[in-house]
Amino acid sequence: MIRVAVCGACGRMGKLIVRQLSKQSDMKLVAAIDAPGTPSLGEDAGELAGAGKLGVEIVSADKLADVLKESKPDVLVDFTKADAAVQNVKTASEAGVHVVVGTTGFTAEQRDEIERVIRERKIRAVISPNMSVGVNVFFKSVKETARMLGTDYGVEIVEAHHAQKRDAPSGTARRAVQIIAKEFGWSEDKIKIKSIREGDIVGEHTVIFFTPEERVEIIHRAQSRETFAAGATKAIRYVVKKGKPGVVQDMQDVLGL
Ligand SMILES: NC(=O)c1ccc[n+]([C@@H]2O[C@H](COP(=O)([O-])OP(=O)(O)OC[C@H]3O[C@@H](n4cnc5c(N)ncnc54)[C@H](O)[C@@H]3O)[C@@H](O)[C@H]2O)c1
Repeated sequence: MIRVAVCGACGRMGKLIVRQLSKQSDMKLVAAIDAPGTPSLGEDAGELAGAGKLGVEIVSADKLADVLKESKPDVLVDFTKADAAVQNVKTASEAGVHVVVGTTGFTAEQRDEIERVIRERKIRAVISPNMSVGVNVFFKSVKETARMLGTDYGVEIVEAHHAQKRDAPSGTARRAVQIIAKEFGWSEDKIKIKSIREGDIVGEHTVIFFTPEERVEIIHRAQSRETFAAGATKAIRYVVKKGKPGVVQDMQDVLGL
């Protein structure tokens, strides 16, 4: 049985992960954590997520080190916000707990800090700005298309998300830029990203390759956040069974792409 702790258990994604975990026969929620002062602290994580009572109380992140010691998870899953995730990964690393991080919006310094603690503590880690299987195939298609079209084509990215999303551009759009820039030998700031924040859009990304004569567009539309939560359970299984100690892996590794 894989023992899992969820950080951000009261959030949109955290609740879906708790629900997904309750349906997996090889996984068990053993701890649920959210920010200090969150109104739902003390409530049952399963009941809050609509999965029925799971007997796991939501506790404050300032007690994370103690909670990990008591509940002994194999993996900590983090869907919070960038600065919180850096701290949570540090605490998990110190406790020897592997991590699956879906949180986005890291600065280059925060990303370096996370990679450093994972390397030093030799824990296993999957970090991905987008856990959906479809988006990871989209990344692969973007790479292949860039390779086939070449640098005669200009590139622009349009991404759209719900109005509550904190970071812009999205981590997924930033990853698409990295992939194309690497393929073209360009600096990343050569590729423009247009971000739309409207209503309840789950997540849409369009990569446009263009010349004056034609356009090639690659589009991914997430219709439900369940797709990210389902991907997170794949990442949990992978990190425990096949993750490489001290190395940050991503969904491309999990999915064998
Ligand atoms: N990788 C993916 O597939 C994927 C998919 C969707 C969203 N995301 C990202 O996941 C993150 C969360 O998204 P969301 O829509 O669930 O946001 P949300 O705001 O609904 O939830 C975030 C939760 O984290 C909690 N939190 C804040 N600080 C914390 C701390 N120190 N410890 C524990 N919990 C803390 C908040 O109180 C909140 O309940 C964002 O960065 C988002 O971009 C990633």
